Amino acid sequence: MNIVFVASESTPFVKTGGLADVIGSLPQALRKEGNVIDVFLPKYKAIPEEYKQRMESVYRGEISLGWRKQYCGVDTLHLDGINYYFIDNEYYFGRDNIYGYSDDLDEAERFTFFSKAVLEMIPKVIEKVDIIHVHDWQTAMVPVYMEAQYKKEAFYENVKTMFTIHNLKYQGIFSSHLLGDVVELGPEYFHPEALEFHGCINFMKGALVYADIITTVSDAYAKEIQYPFFGEGLDGLLRKRHNDLYGVINGIDTVSYDPASDVSLIEQYRDWSGKYVNKKVLQQLVGLPERQVPMVAMITRLVEQKGLDLVVRVLDELLQDDIQVVILGTGEPKYEQLLSEIASRYSEKFSLQLKFDEAMSRQIYAGADLFLMPSLFEPCGLSQLISFRYQTVPIVRETGGLKDTVQPFNEYTGEGNGFSFMNYNAHDMLHTIRRAISFYQDPQQWEKIVRNGTVHDFSWKQSAKKYRTLYHQLCLREEAVTT
Ligand code: GLC
Repeated sequence: MNIVFVASESTPFVKTGGLADVIGSLPQALRKEGNVIDVFLPKYKAIPEEYKQRMESVYRGEISLGWRKQYCGVDTLHLDGINYYFIDNEYYFGRDNIYGYSDDLDEAERFTFFSKAVLEMIPKVIEKVDIIHVHDWQTAMVPVYMEAQYKKEAFYENVKTMFTIHNLKYQGIFSSHLLGDVVELGPEYFHPEALEFHGCINFMKGALVYADIITTVSDAYAKEIQYPFFGEGLDGLLRKRHNDLYGVINGIDTVSYDPASDVSLIEQYRDWSGKYVNKKVLQQLVGLPERQVPMVAMITRLVEQKGLDLVVRVLDELLQDDIQVVILGTGEPKYEQLLSEIASRYSEKFSLQLKFDEAMSRQIYAGADLFLMPSLFEPCGLSQLISFRYQTVPIVRETGGLKDTVQPFNEYTGEGNGFSFMNYNAHDMLHTIRRAISFYQDPQQWEKIVRNGTVHDFSWKQSAKKYRTLYHQLCLREEAVTT
């Protein structure tokens, strides 16, 4: 089948979060399942020169966006069996940052342009497409435009759309004034069964209404978002569409995330003993004393979703124990300040790295013993999967993809690959960390837990098969309608 992916970020070109990892690795797995995959991305300024230089311009023209006529170019690059197409417009994508603020009108215009440009350009640069698979709010207008306009064109007549929710919290909610101008849709799209959302327009809602199939990145999250607590105001709509809503768990790129060949590590390793050297390297790297004590790590955006309120609440108490903690990431100033203040008091035990540093993150996966993810909600989460791969034991809150991938260790049966707690409660988390550390002190038990993690299937293999089944289902639907 011919599948077109449309997304706002992808490794190895640009990355701000897990979405980029998924778009950078899932197409490969789908290709191995016998599909042809083309990926559309914005041509951001931030894309490294080495890729820009290899791109070839295949189209130059204009598209209209309301009263504006905007330049639109398409550059292509073939990489590892995948065709990438980059939508080029200096005004929208030639900026330093890949995103602005998600409630900014300018942001709405940029991604409306991108969505329209993709639909305009596909017939010009691709021979055939069966399914357009779009991801998160930035590309959510694609299924809306398909419905409003493009399905009427012969090229798109039988093309189906799939929308994947990577995070329901970010929806792209904008003033309704944009409807007639930038977005260019009639008043028939401004009602509660369409894009209207509390007097505004909501891009993600548009995709949830008009996409043929909706998926999200774990079974548990697919269920959770049908309840008000996780539904971000869209749970009613998701319940209504539950027959078209599926959870497909993410995998990771097992070639890139392989401690036996990861070039970011000073010392590559295969078995558990190899972590010892990496822990020392890590301690030097982040300025902690080289001691053989349990090391707990977090690599995360410092935002509410990731459970930072629990962390700042009990970190002081946790640091009374003989342990080390390392946190890498940036985010909301309030968390950065609170954590910095704690770090200044425990410089021998707690290293805070307020930055985004891919190489350091890999050294942390390799050197730490425990990986903490106490998320308030977590659509999938990739760090726990990477942790398994690097033989680092995850401690998670039982939500979304964390619940689906981390099985709490049971000392009586020897089953389980990590530790988990259910209530969003700081002391439940603290207790679970201490329980995990008590097993860490027993090397035999610990080896068992680590081993249980490494045998977990974190590749894309199974999930690519599920996507293939869904793509097929969609095409069958099409036959049912046409016969
Ligand atoms: C978002 C979600 C995360 C998920 C990732 C990739 O970043 O917050 O849970 O793993 O998307 O789907």
